[in-house]
Amino acid sequence: MADKQEKKAVTVWLTGLSGAGKTSIAHALAAMLEQDGQAVTVLDGDLLRDGLNRDLGFTPQDRHENIRRTAEVARLMNGAGLVVIAALISPNREGRAMAGAIIGAAQFIEVHVSTRLEVCEARDPKGLYARARAGQLPQFTGVSAPYEAPLSPALALDTGSQPLAASAEQLYRYWLAL
Ligand code: ADX
Repeated sequence: MADKQEKKAVTVWLTGLSGAGKTSIAHALAAMLEQDGQAVTVLDGDLLRDGLNRDLGFTPQDRHENIRRTAEVARLMNGAGLVVIAALISPNREGRAMAGAIIGAAQFIEVHVSTRLEVCEARDPKGLYARARAGQLPQFTGVSAPYEAPLSPALALDTGSQPLAASAEQLYRYWLAL
């Protein structure tokens, strides 16, 4: 039983464009795990950038450091028995590979929130795509900075083609089967 619980103290790493639904899926999954009595925490890119990572911007170097710090925190939390759900754009394969190496291959579950750019842009919950298209936001992922989709994610969840709850449910079932 202890082994089983240890095995489940993983980091679910949600990568995808801004507005893809990463944060919403993270919190929906966290609620399901809490119902099961599982200790769980969400590490959200936007919130981390208000505190731990507030000295960082959006250059490739700063994004790399953002991901590195977040992965180190996730590793510590996994070690304490928590499931971590990380929701960061984490746009580069290399950065996500680093996160996997820090967290440990057995604990790192890469999930692509694969909602298409057009859908994310139409949602534009923070008005950032509009600002990026107007040239007011340099290095904005998907518009003026690249996003590299994972080549072999554990799961790909498209919140443009299925309801959020269905994506969270799919992820929950994946976790249950670990
Ligand atoms: S990451 O690329 O370093 O992984 P992270 O997930 O922490 O990004 O932060 C992304 C959030 O920062 C976006 O959801 C958006 O609200 C905000 N943001 C502000 N400027 C940018 C930008 N240039 N590119 C992407 N996101 C930005």
